[in-house]
Amino acid sequence: MTTVDPVTPVLTKRWLSPRSWSIQTYEQLEGYTAVRKALAVTPEQVVQVVKDSGLRGRGGAGFPSGLKWSFMPPNEDKPHYLVINADEGEPGTCKDIPLMMADPHSLIEGCIIASYAMRSHHCFIYVRGEALHCIRRLNQAVAEAKAAGYLGTNVFGSGFDIEITVHAGAGAYICGEETALLDSLEGRRGQPRLKPPFPAAAGLYAAPTTVNNVETIASVPYIINGGSDWFRKMGTEKSPGPKIYSISGHVEKPGQYEAPLGTTLRQLLEMAGGMKDGIPLKFWTPGGSSTPMFTTEHLDVALDFEGAAAAGSMLGTTAVQVFNETVSVPWAVMKWTQFYKHESCGKCTPCREGTYWLVQILERMVAGNGTEEDIDTLLDVCDNVIGRSFCALGDGAVSPIQSGIKYFRDEFLALCQRNREKNRKPALAGAN
Ligand SMILES: Cc1cc2nc3c(=O)[nH]c(=O)nc-3n(C[C@H](O)[C@H](O)[C@H](O)COP(=O)(O)O)c2cc1C
Ligand code: SF4
Repeated sequence: MTTVDPVTPVLTKRWLSPRSWSIQTYEQLEGYTAVRKALAVTPEQVVQVVKDSGLRGRGGAGFPSGLKWSFMPPNEDKPHYLVINADEGEPGTCKDIPLMMADPHSLIEGCIIASYAMRSHHCFIYVRGEALHCIRRLNQAVAEAKAAGYLGTNVFGSGFDIEITVHAGAGAYICGEETALLDSLEGRRGQPRLKPPFPAAAGLYAAPTTVNNVETIASVPYIINGGSDWFRKMGTEKSPGPKIYSISGHVEKPGQYEAPLGTTLRQLLEMAGGMKDGIPLKFWTPGGSSTPMFTTEHLDVALDFEGAAAAGSMLGTTAVQVFNETVSVPWAVMKWTQFYKHESCGKCTPCREGTYWLVQILERMVAGNGTEEDIDTLLDVCDNVIGRSFCALGDGAVSPIQSGIKYFRDEFLALCQRNREKNRKPALAGAN
Protein backbone atom coordinates (compact mmCIF):
# COMPACT_ATOMS: atom_id res chain seq x y z
CA MET A 1 0.00 0.00 0.00
CA THR A 2 1.41 3.39 -0.98
CA THR A 3 1.06 6.44 1.20
CA VAL A 4 0.94 10.11 0.36
CA ASP A 5 3.23 12.62 2.07
CA PRO A 6 1.24 13.89 5.07
CA VAL A 7 2.56 17.49 4.86
CA THR A 8 -0.50 18.62 2.91
CA PRO A 9 -3.13 20.12 2.85
CA VAL A 10 -1.89 23.66 2.54
CA LEU A 11 -3.85 25.33 -0.26
CA THR A 12 -7.08 23.52 0.60
CA LYS A 13 -6.81 23.61 4.37
CA ARG A 14 -9.75 25.99 4.86
CA TRP A 15 -12.02 24.47 2.25
CA LEU A 16 -14.12 22.42 4.67
CA SER A 17 -14.43 25.13 7.34
CA PRO A 18 -17.88 26.69 7.81
CA ARG A 19 -18.28 29.71 5.50
CA SER A 20 -14.70 29.19 4.37
CA TRP A 21 -15.09 32.00 1.82
CA SER A 22 -15.81 34.72 4.38
CA ILE A 23 -13.17 37.15 5.58
CA GLN A 24 -13.95 36.18 9.20
CA THR A 25 -13.04 32.52 8.60
CA TYR A 26 -10.00 33.53 6.60
CA GLU A 27 -8.71 35.83 9.35
CA GLN A 28 -9.38 33.21 12.06
CA LEU A 29 -7.23 30.72 10.14
CA GLU A 30 -4.05 32.81 9.66
CA GLY A 31 -5.52 34.86 6.81
CA TYR A 32 -4.01 38.27 6.01
CA THR A 33 -1.00 37.65 8.27
CA ALA A 34 1.41 37.15 5.35
CA VAL A 35 0.54 40.47 3.72
CA ARG A 36 1.60 42.35 6.87
CA LYS A 37 4.96 40.58 6.79
CA ALA A 38 5.43 41.24 3.07
CA LEU A 39 4.67 44.95 3.33
CA ALA A 40 7.22 45.27 6.12
CA VAL A 41 10.11 44.29 3.80
CA THR A 42 11.18 45.58 0.38
CA PRO A 43 9.59 44.39 -2.88
CA GLU A 44 12.97 42.88 -3.85
CA GLN A 45 13.00 40.81 -0.68
CA VAL A 46 9.54 39.42 -1.46
CA VAL A 47 10.67 38.49 -4.97
CA GLN A 48 13.75 36.77 -3.50
CA VAL A 49 11.68 34.61 -1.10
CA VAL A 50 9.47 33.50 -3.98
CA LYS A 51 12.55 32.76 -6.09
CA ASP A 52 14.13 30.79 -3.24
CA SER A 53 10.94 28.78 -2.73
CA GLY A 54 11.22 27.39 -6.26
CA LEU A 55 7.52 28.10 -6.91
CA ARG A 56 6.68 27.33 -10.54
CA GLY A 57 3.63 28.54 -12.44
CA ARG A 58 0.54 26.37 -11.90
CA GLY A 59 -1.13 27.47 -15.16
CA GLY A 60 0.53 24.76 -17.25
CA ALA A 61 4.00 25.75 -18.36
CA GLY A 62 5.72 25.64 -14.95
CA PHE A 63 7.78 28.79 -15.44
CA PRO A 64 9.62 29.85 -12.23
CA SER A 65 7.40 32.50 -10.66
CA GLY A 66 10.05 34.55 -8.81
CA LEU A 67 12.10 34.79 -12.00
CA LYS A 68 9.03 35.93 -13.95
CA TRP A 69 8.37 38.63 -11.35
CA SER A 70 11.96 39.83 -11.58
CA PHE A 71 11.45 40.62 -15.29
CA MET A 72 9.21 43.52 -14.29
CA PRO A 73 11.15 46.78 -14.60
CA PRO A 74 12.27 48.36 -11.32
CA ASN A 75 11.21 51.89 -12.31
CA GLU A 76 7.61 53.05 -12.31
CA ASP A 77 7.48 55.45 -15.24
CA LYS A 78 4.48 53.46 -16.52
CA PRO A 79 1.80 51.68 -14.48
CA HIS A 80 2.58 48.03 -13.72
CA TYR A 81 -0.14 45.40 -13.81
CA LEU A 82 -0.66 41.99 -12.28
CA VAL A 83 -3.23 39.95 -14.16
CA ILE A 84 -4.60 36.75 -12.69
CA ASN A 85 -5.44 34.08 -15.21
CA ALA A 86 -8.65 32.54 -13.89
CA ASP A 87 -9.92 31.40 -17.28
CA GLU A 88 -9.52 27.69 -16.52
CA GLY A 89 -10.59 26.35 -19.89
CA GLU A 90 -8.36 23.30 -20.33
CA PRO A 91 -10.58 20.21 -20.55
CA GLY A 92 -10.50 18.37 -17.24
CA THR A 93 -9.11 21.28 -15.24
CA CYS A 94 -11.22 22.17 -12.22
CA LYS A 95 -8.95 23.51 -9.49
CA ASP A 96 -8.97 27.31 -9.82
CA ILE A 97 -12.73 27.81 -9.68
CA PRO A 98 -13.09 25.55 -6.60
CA LEU A 99 -10.20 27.44 -4.99
CA MET A 100 -11.82 30.81 -5.65
CA MET A 101 -15.20 29.53 -4.44
CA ALA A 102 -13.88 27.97 -1.24
CA ASP A 103 -11.09 30.36 -0.31
CA PRO A 104 -11.17 33.57 -2.41
CA HIS A 105 -9.26 35.57 0.19
CA SER A 106 -6.13 33.41 -0.26
CA LEU A 107 -6.06 34.60 -3.88
CA ILE A 108 -6.73 38.21 -2.86
CA GLU A 109 -3.98 38.14 -0.24
CA GLY A 110 -1.62 36.63 -2.84
CA CYS A 111 -2.60 39.37 -5.30
CA ILE A 112 -1.75 42.12 -2.79
CA ILE A 113 1.64 40.57 -1.99
CA ALA A 114 2.53 39.89 -5.64
CA SER A 115 1.41 43.38 -6.69
CA TYR A 116 3.58 44.92 -4.00
CA ALA A 117 6.56 42.80 -5.12
CA MET A 118 6.11 43.95 -8.73
CA ARG A 119 5.25 47.57 -7.91
CA SER A 120 1.78 47.19 -9.33
CA HIS A 121 -1.13 49.17 -7.96
CA HIS A 122 -3.84 47.58 -10.04
CA CYS A 123 -4.53 43.89 -10.31
CA PHE A 124 -7.10 42.30 -12.61
CA ILE A 125 -8.62 38.88 -12.05
CA TYR A 126 -9.80 37.56 -15.42
CA VAL A 127 -12.45 34.91 -14.76
CA ARG A 128 -14.23 32.89 -17.39
CA GLY A 129 -17.66 34.42 -17.92
CA GLU A 130 -19.63 31.21 -17.40
CA ALA A 131 -18.41 31.02 -13.80
CA LEU A 132 -20.92 33.61 -12.65
CA HIS A 133 -21.14 32.13 -9.14
CA CYS A 134 -17.37 32.50 -8.83
CA ILE A 135 -17.39 36.08 -10.12
CA ARG A 136 -20.01 36.98 -7.49
CA ARG A 137 -17.97 35.38 -4.75
CA LEU A 138 -14.79 37.16 -5.81
CA ASN A 139 -16.55 40.51 -5.97
CA GLN A 140 -17.91 39.93 -2.48
CA ALA A 141 -14.44 39.00 -1.21
CA VAL A 142 -12.89 42.09 -2.82
CA ALA A 143 -15.54 44.25 -1.12
CA GLU A 144 -14.83 42.57 2.24
CA ALA A 145 -11.07 43.04 1.85
CA LYS A 146 -11.58 46.68 0.94
CA ALA A 147 -13.85 47.32 3.93
CA ALA A 148 -11.22 45.73 6.18
CA GLY A 149 -8.48 47.99 4.82
CA TYR A 150 -6.48 45.32 2.95
CA LEU A 151 -7.25 47.01 -0.38
CA GLY A 152 -7.33 50.68 -1.22
CA THR A 153 -4.91 53.48 -0.44
CA ASN A 154 -2.08 53.32 2.07
CA VAL A 155 -2.65 49.70 3.16
CA PHE A 156 -1.78 49.43 6.92
CA GLY A 157 -0.05 52.81 6.71
CA SER A 158 2.61 51.28 4.45
CA GLY A 159 2.13 53.87 1.72
CA PHE A 160 1.18 51.08 -0.71
CA ASP A 161 -1.99 51.52 -2.78
CA ILE A 162 -3.71 48.59 -4.45
CA GLU A 163 -7.01 47.96 -6.25
CA ILE A 164 -8.37 44.69 -7.59
CA THR A 165 -10.82 44.50 -10.49
CA VAL A 166 -12.68 41.26 -11.20
CA HIS A 167 -13.27 40.96 -14.95
CA ALA A 168 -15.61 38.45 -16.60
CA GLY A 169 -14.38 36.91 -19.86
CA ALA A 170 -16.77 35.69 -22.52
CA GLY A 171 -15.92 32.00 -22.52
CA ALA A 172 -13.23 31.21 -25.10
CA TYR A 173 -10.48 28.70 -24.38
CA ILE A 174 -7.94 30.82 -26.25
CA CYS A 175 -8.50 33.66 -23.78
CA GLY A 176 -6.55 31.55 -21.26
CA GLU A 177 -3.42 32.07 -23.39
CA GLU A 178 -1.85 35.00 -21.63
CA THR A 179 -1.54 37.45 -24.52
CA ALA A 180 -5.01 36.63 -25.91
CA LEU A 181 -6.25 37.23 -22.38
CA LEU A 182 -4.66 40.68 -22.40
CA ASP A 183 -6.29 41.52 -25.74
CA SER A 184 -9.63 40.36 -24.37
CA LEU A 185 -9.14 42.41 -21.19
CA GLU A 186 -8.47 45.47 -23.36
CA GLY A 187 -11.84 44.88 -25.05
CA ARG A 188 -10.57 43.30 -28.25
CA ARG A 189 -11.21 39.91 -29.77
CA GLY A 190 -9.03 37.45 -27.84
CA GLN A 191 -6.19 36.31 -30.10
CA PRO A 192 -2.57 35.65 -29.13
CA ARG A 193 -0.03 38.41 -29.64
CA LEU A 194 3.33 38.07 -31.30
CA LYS A 195 6.14 37.73 -28.72
CA PRO A 196 8.44 39.59 -28.17
CA PRO A 197 7.56 41.97 -26.70
CA PHE A 198 6.74 39.82 -23.70
CA PRO A 199 4.11 41.08 -21.24
CA ALA A 200 6.76 42.20 -18.73
CA ALA A 201 7.93 44.74 -21.34
CA ALA A 202 4.60 45.58 -23.00
CA GLY A 203 1.53 43.81 -21.67
CA LEU A 204 -1.82 45.26 -20.64
CA TYR A 205 -2.27 48.70 -22.26
CA ALA A 206 1.37 48.29 -23.46
CA ALA A 207 2.57 48.61 -19.85
CA PRO A 208 4.71 46.11 -17.87
CA THR A 209 2.47 43.20 -16.90
CA THR A 210 2.78 39.81 -15.25
CA VAL A 211 0.17 37.14 -15.89
CA ASN A 212 -0.05 34.41 -13.26
CA ASN A 213 -2.40 31.54 -12.60
CA VAL A 214 -4.80 31.54 -9.62
CA GLU A 215 -3.11 28.62 -7.83
CA THR A 216 0.33 30.18 -8.34
CA ILE A 217 -0.69 33.41 -6.62
CA ALA A 218 -2.75 31.67 -3.93
CA SER A 219 0.45 29.78 -2.96
CA VAL A 220 2.30 33.02 -2.19
CA PRO A 221 0.87 33.87 1.29
CA TYR A 222 1.89 30.40 2.52
CA ILE A 223 5.41 30.90 1.20
CA ILE A 224 5.70 34.28 2.93
CA ASN A 225 4.43 32.82 6.22
CA GLY A 226 6.18 29.45 6.08
CA GLY A 227 9.38 30.51 4.32
CA SER A 228 11.06 29.07 1.26
CA ASP A 229 12.70 26.16 3.13
CA TRP A 230 9.34 24.99 4.45
CA PHE A 231 7.85 25.17 0.94
CA ARG A 232 10.75 23.15 -0.45
CA LYS A 233 10.08 20.36 2.04
CA MET A 234 7.09 19.43 -0.11
CA GLY A 235 7.32 18.11 -3.62
CA THR A 236 10.55 17.42 -5.44
CA GLU A 237 13.79 19.33 -5.80
CA LYS A 238 12.94 21.02 -9.09
CA SER A 239 9.17 21.03 -8.60
CA PRO A 240 8.63 21.99 -4.97
CA GLY A 241 5.42 22.65 -3.11
CA PRO A 242 1.89 21.38 -2.86
CA LYS A 243 -0.42 21.07 -5.86
CA ILE A 244 -4.12 20.63 -6.40
CA TYR A 245 -4.69 17.61 -8.65
CA SER A 246 -8.19 17.65 -10.16
CA ILE A 247 -9.31 14.09 -10.73
CA SER A 248 -12.25 13.40 -13.00
CA GLY A 249 -13.68 10.47 -14.90
CA HIS A 250 -13.97 6.84 -13.88
CA VAL A 251 -12.92 7.01 -10.24
CA GLU A 252 -15.10 6.42 -7.20
CA LYS A 253 -14.61 9.91 -5.74
CA PRO A 254 -13.72 12.52 -8.37
CA GLY A 255 -12.68 15.91 -7.05
CA GLN A 256 -9.76 18.09 -6.04
CA TYR A 257 -6.98 16.36 -4.14
CA GLU A 258 -4.08 18.32 -2.75
CA ALA A 259 -0.78 16.47 -2.62
CA PRO A 260 2.90 17.33 -2.99
CA LEU A 261 4.22 17.62 -6.53
CA GLY A 262 5.63 14.27 -7.56
CA THR A 263 2.64 12.23 -6.37
CA THR A 264 1.87 9.31 -8.69
CA LEU A 265 -1.41 8.26 -10.28
CA ARG A 266 -1.31 5.11 -8.17
CA GLN A 267 -1.37 7.29 -5.04
CA LEU A 268 -3.98 9.66 -6.45
CA LEU A 269 -6.27 6.75 -7.33
CA GLU A 270 -5.96 5.56 -3.77
CA MET A 271 -7.04 9.00 -2.55
CA ALA A 272 -9.94 9.05 -5.03
CA GLY A 273 -11.30 5.70 -3.87
CA GLY A 274 -9.95 3.66 -6.78
CA MET A 275 -11.43 2.93 -10.20
CA LYS A 276 -15.21 3.27 -10.39
CA ASP A 277 -17.01 -0.07 -9.99
CA GLY A 278 -13.63 -1.77 -10.17
CA ILE A 279 -13.47 -1.50 -13.98
CA PRO A 280 -9.76 -1.36 -14.88
CA LEU A 281 -7.92 1.75 -16.03
CA LYS A 282 -7.20 2.14 -19.74
CA PHE A 283 -5.76 5.63 -20.30
CA TRP A 284 -5.48 8.97 -18.53
CA THR A 285 -4.17 12.48 -18.94
CA PRO A 286 -1.69 13.87 -16.40
CA GLY A 287 -2.57 17.52 -16.98
CA GLY A 288 -5.59 18.03 -19.21
CA SER A 289 -6.26 17.02 -22.78
CA SER A 290 -3.35 19.10 -24.16
CA THR A 291 -0.92 16.78 -22.40
CA PRO A 292 -0.15 13.48 -24.15
CA MET A 293 -2.13 10.64 -22.60
CA PHE A 294 -0.63 7.97 -20.38
CA THR A 295 -1.65 4.34 -19.90
CA THR A 296 -1.44 1.66 -17.19
CA GLU A 297 2.34 1.60 -17.82
CA HIS A 298 2.58 5.03 -16.22
CA LEU A 299 0.92 4.44 -12.85
CA ASP A 300 4.17 5.16 -10.99
CA VAL A 301 5.35 8.20 -12.93
CA ALA A 302 6.11 11.07 -10.52
CA LEU A 303 3.63 13.79 -11.44
CA ASP A 304 5.93 16.79 -11.29
CA PHE A 305 7.25 18.89 -14.18
CA GLU A 306 10.32 16.68 -14.75
CA GLY A 307 8.69 13.28 -14.14
CA ALA A 308 5.80 13.85 -16.54
CA ALA A 309 8.16 15.20 -19.24
CA ALA A 310 10.64 12.33 -18.87
CA ALA A 311 7.79 9.86 -19.42
CA GLY A 312 6.77 11.62 -22.64
CA SER A 313 4.02 13.96 -21.51
CA MET A 314 3.66 17.20 -19.53
CA LEU A 315 2.38 18.10 -16.09
CA GLY A 316 0.10 20.79 -17.54
CA THR A 317 -2.59 21.79 -15.07
CA THR A 318 -2.58 18.44 -13.18
CA ALA A 319 -6.05 17.77 -14.55
CA VAL A 320 -6.03 14.01 -14.22
CA GLN A 321 -8.78 12.60 -16.44
CA VAL A 322 -9.22 8.89 -15.88
CA PHE A 323 -10.78 6.56 -18.47
CA ASN A 324 -11.64 2.90 -17.94
CA GLU A 325 -11.62 -0.01 -20.34
CA THR A 326 -15.10 0.77 -21.65
CA VAL A 327 -13.91 3.92 -23.46
CA SER A 328 -12.85 3.85 -27.10
CA VAL A 329 -9.62 5.79 -27.59
CA PRO A 330 -10.43 6.96 -31.16
CA TRP A 331 -13.80 8.23 -29.92
CA ALA A 332 -12.24 10.15 -26.99
CA VAL A 333 -9.56 11.56 -29.30
CA MET A 334 -12.25 12.68 -31.74
CA LYS A 335 -14.17 14.47 -28.95
CA TRP A 336 -11.05 16.32 -27.81
CA THR A 337 -10.15 17.26 -31.39
CA GLN A 338 -13.64 18.63 -31.97
CA PHE A 339 -13.06 20.86 -28.95
CA TYR A 340 -9.75 22.20 -30.32
CA LYS A 341 -11.24 22.78 -33.75
CA HIS A 342 -14.08 24.73 -32.17
CA GLU A 343 -11.72 26.76 -29.97
CA SER A 344 -9.03 27.45 -32.60
CA CYS A 345 -9.04 31.24 -32.90
CA GLY A 346 -8.28 31.06 -36.62
CA LYS A 347 -5.32 33.42 -36.56
CA CYS A 348 -2.81 30.96 -38.04
CA THR A 349 -3.25 28.52 -40.89
CA PRO A 350 -1.71 25.32 -39.44
CA CYS A 351 -4.06 25.27 -36.46
CA ARG A 352 -7.15 26.67 -38.19
CA GLU A 353 -6.95 24.32 -41.20
CA GLY A 354 -5.22 21.44 -39.43
CA THR A 355 -7.81 21.05 -36.67
CA TYR A 356 -10.56 21.19 -39.31
CA TRP A 357 -9.05 18.33 -41.31
CA LEU A 358 -8.17 16.30 -38.22
CA VAL A 359 -11.82 16.39 -37.15
CA GLN A 360 -12.97 15.36 -40.64
CA ILE A 361 -10.72 12.31 -40.61
CA LEU A 362 -11.46 11.28 -37.04
CA GLU A 363 -15.23 11.61 -37.50
CA ARG A 364 -14.97 9.48 -40.63
CA MET A 365 -13.00 6.83 -38.79
CA VAL A 366 -15.28 6.71 -35.77
CA ALA A 367 -18.33 6.48 -38.05
CA GLY A 368 -16.75 3.35 -39.49
CA ASN A 369 -15.76 4.83 -42.85
CA GLY A 370 -12.01 5.25 -42.35
CA THR A 371 -9.11 3.56 -44.08
CA GLU A 372 -5.76 2.41 -42.73
CA GLU A 373 -4.11 5.26 -44.66
CA ASP A 374 -6.14 7.69 -42.57
CA ILE A 375 -3.92 6.88 -39.60
CA ASP A 376 -0.84 8.07 -41.47
CA THR A 377 -2.72 11.09 -42.79
CA LEU A 378 -3.68 12.01 -39.23
CA LEU A 379 -0.05 11.83 -38.13
CA ASP A 380 1.06 13.81 -41.17
CA VAL A 381 -1.42 16.60 -40.47
CA CYS A 382 -0.29 16.59 -36.80
CA ASP A 383 3.32 17.09 -37.96
CA ASN A 384 2.18 20.14 -39.89
CA VAL A 385 0.47 21.65 -36.86
CA ILE A 386 2.87 20.95 -34.01
CA GLY A 387 5.69 23.48 -33.78
CA ARG A 388 4.26 25.39 -36.73
CA SER A 389 1.34 27.08 -35.01
CA PHE A 390 1.35 30.59 -33.63
CA CYS A 391 0.53 29.58 -30.06
CA ALA A 392 0.49 26.48 -27.90
CA LEU A 393 -3.16 25.67 -28.66
CA GLY A 394 -2.03 24.07 -31.92
CA ASP A 395 0.54 21.90 -30.14
CA GLY A 396 -2.02 20.90 -27.53
CA ALA A 397 -4.56 19.97 -30.19
CA VAL A 398 -2.39 17.21 -31.63
CA SER A 399 -1.34 15.70 -28.29
CA PRO A 400 -4.36 13.40 -27.91
CA ILE A 401 -4.01 12.18 -31.51
CA GLN A 402 -0.28 11.52 -31.48
CA SER A 403 -0.30 9.85 -28.06
CA GLY A 404 -3.53 7.96 -28.79
CA ILE A 405 -2.03 6.43 -31.92
CA LYS A 406 1.30 5.80 -30.15
CA TYR A 407 -0.29 3.67 -27.42
CA PHE A 408 -3.49 2.41 -29.08
CA ARG A 409 -2.67 2.15 -32.79
CA ASP A 410 -4.31 -1.28 -32.85
CA GLU A 411 -7.60 0.23 -31.85
CA PHE A 412 -7.47 2.78 -34.68
CA LEU A 413 -6.45 -0.01 -37.07
CA ALA A 414 -9.25 -2.28 -35.91
CA LEU A 415 -11.79 0.47 -36.67
CA CYS A 416 -10.45 0.79 -40.21
CA GLN A 417 -10.13 -2.96 -40.77
CA ARG A 418 -13.74 -3.46 -39.72
CA ASN A 419 -14.65 -0.90 -42.34
CA ARG A 420 -12.64 -2.76 -45.00
CA GLU A 421 -14.46 -5.99 -44.13
CA LYS A 422 -17.79 -4.18 -44.30
CA ASN A 423 -17.05 -2.84 -47.78
CA ARG A 424 -15.53 -6.02 -49.25
CA LYS A 425 -17.63 -7.09 -52.25
CA PRO A 426 -18.79 -10.73 -52.18
CA ALA A 427 -16.77 -12.85 -54.65
CA LEU A 428 -18.72 -13.65 -57.83
CA ALA A 429 -19.60 -17.27 -58.09
CA GLY A 430 -17.47 -18.96 -60.73
CA ALA A 431 -15.13 -15.98 -61.20
CA ASN A 432 -11.45 -16.82 -61.75
C1 LIG B 1 -4.65 27.79 -25.30
C2 LIG B 1 -4.11 28.10 -23.95
C3 LIG B 1 -4.97 28.18 -22.86
C4 LIG B 1 -4.47 28.48 -21.61
N1 LIG B 1 -5.35 28.55 -20.56
C5 LIG B 1 -4.90 28.88 -19.34
C6 LIG B 1 -5.80 29.02 -18.24
O1 LIG B 1 -7.01 28.83 -18.38
N2 LIG B 1 -5.28 29.37 -17.03
C7 LIG B 1 -3.93 29.61 -16.85
O2 LIG B 1 -3.52 29.96 -15.76
N3 LIG B 1 -3.06 29.47 -17.86
C8 LIG B 1 -3.51 29.13 -19.09
N4 LIG B 1 -2.62 29.05 -20.13
C9 LIG B 1 -1.21 29.37 -19.86
C10 LIG B 1 -0.99 30.89 -19.89
O3 LIG B 1 -0.69 31.30 -21.21
C11 LIG B 1 0.17 31.32 -18.97
O4 LIG B 1 1.27 30.52 -19.24
C12 LIG B 1 -0.16 31.22 -17.50
O5 LIG B 1 -1.33 31.93 -17.16
C13 LIG B 1 1.00 31.80 -16.69
O6 LIG B 1 0.76 31.69 -15.32
P1 LIG B 1 1.73 30.87 -14.38
O7 LIG B 1 3.14 31.28 -14.70
O8 LIG B 1 1.32 31.25 -13.00
O9 LIG B 1 1.51 29.42 -14.67
C14 LIG B 1 -3.08 28.72 -21.41
C15 LIG B 1 -2.21 28.63 -22.51
C16 LIG B 1 -2.72 28.31 -23.76
C17 LIG B 1 -1.78 28.22 -24.90
S1 SF4 C 1 -2.43 28.08 -32.84
FE1 SF4 C 1 -4.67 28.12 -33.11
S2 SF4 C 1 -5.39 29.28 -31.36
FE2 SF4 C 1 -3.20 29.72 -31.55
S3 SF4 C 1 -3.06 31.52 -32.85
FE3 SF4 C 1 -3.00 29.79 -34.23
S4 SF4 C 1 -5.16 29.52 -34.83
FE4 SF4 C 1 -5.16 30.76 -32.99
